[in-house]
Amino acid sequence: MSQSPSLKHKIVVTRNLGPDVMPILEGRTEIDLVVWPEDRACDREWLLRNATGAAALVIMVSDKIDAEVLDAAGPGLRAVSTMSVGYEHVDVQELAKRSIALGYTPDVLTEAVADVCIMLALMAGRNAKQTSALVNEGNWPQFSWAPFLFCGPQLSAPSPSRQRTAGFIGFGRIAKATLARLVPFGFTRCVYGANPHSTRQGSNDDSDKELADRLGLTSVRRVDLDTVASESDVVFVLAPGGPSTYHVVNEEFLRKMKKMGVLVNASRGTLVDSDALAKVLKEGGIWAAGLDVVEGEPNIPADHPLVREPRCVILPHIGSATNETWVDMASLAANNALAAALGEPMPCALRCLPQPATSQVTDGTEVSRDRTIFGFVRQSWISKANKQLPMGNTCCYTLPESAFTSHSPDVQTPDFGALSLHPRGPVSLRANHPNLTPGQRTHHDAVLDHHISQA
Ligand code: DGY
Repeated sequence: MSQSPSLKHKIVVTRNLGPDVMPILEGRTEIDLVVWPEDRACDREWLLRNATGAAALVIMVSDKIDAEVLDAAGPGLRAVSTMSVGYEHVDVQELAKRSIALGYTPDVLTEAVADVCIMLALMAGRNAKQTSALVNEGNWPQFSWAPFLFCGPQLSAPSPSRQRTAGFIGFGRIAKATLARLVPFGFTRCVYGANPHSTRQGSNDDSDKELADRLGLTSVRRVDLDTVASESDVVFVLAPGGPSTYHVVNEEFLRKMKKMGVLVNASRGTLVDSDALAKVLKEGGIWAAGLDVVEGEPNIPADHPLVREPRCVILPHIGSATNETWVDMASLAANNALAAALGEPMPCALRCLPQPATSQVTDGTEVSRDRTIFGFVRQSWISKANKQLPMGNTCCYTLPESAFTSHSPDVQTPDFGALSLHPRGPVSLRANHPNLTPGQRTHHDAVLDHHISQA
């Protein structure tokens, strides 16, 4: 018997995911599938119109997901599933407020992006932009081979005495995969700044030493950004975008880099001040830059100051663009949306980020326990459950683990779990607690009441 359309879960997809992936969503009797029909970025008007009543949205980095889209979707929206590891295009605080989970696609693109980092370092250092332009424009006949023509710094160490140091801003999975690729090039040292705005200095000794030993490096050190700039032969920018990393590579940073240094950015354009980079390149402050991302993309005209720089190689955000990786990313995005729509755990919801030791409710009452789980609590539950807690504010609770364990699985709740307003982004409780399942909606009040009675 076929299901009535009104009982189906609607999934809206903003770009056809291709023949390998669409079957994940197509032909499922319980799903009402709506796909943007054109082979270009989805029109916002179309998304606003079609999102109505959706249980899940599968979106691309080009789709901005904000309160307007979430309002258009309505209260049935369980998840936004982005086909990307980055989620700057999604207003995660709006999602958090509405207890909507966020699916994304980490891990599967790590190797592809690390490959592009190496490619950009080589292309930028070795004048690939100028030299290929010369051939493509038919100017090769006018150039005769000459000593030192088009020379640039060598990425690989030509001898053991010429050491190479890799620098990273952001030191996650892609940075480490990039570092591993640099070892056969003769890189022996690594310096990194994990959080550009952190005042913390010194290494994460054990893990850095373990990594150095595993890769056969002399050292892996966590340092401040000045040191990343001044010691690195190549600086790889691989930190998330957003306000906290905005223009972290500015003129001051660039001026501290080696004159023969190369800057590679394969994360988000907003981390690098384009005007400062163009200026420093023009003045010879650094040798070259390789960018897969540029602030303001895709609106980068031919007269953009960086496009005009002969030693600034720019690719149109293709870091993850391999056949294998895009099939994996699209499959994960589709499976995340499908699971959320069906009320099942998403294969990949946003991970837990480092948490503070305790959390304060805003009336100053500390609610903390030894075994802590952090969650996002909606103001409506707070007012319902405990009149002493503030109205009109969201806050983070610290919950005793026992608040969850005595509940049956259907009381697992993403509202304590999927997202919180931690300043560094949303958190998932799943990593903290095996019984919690992001991506499900369930009985908030039962959990909160239980917590209150435990407190
Ligand atoms: C990502 O996944 O965030 C990439 O930048 C887009 O492919």
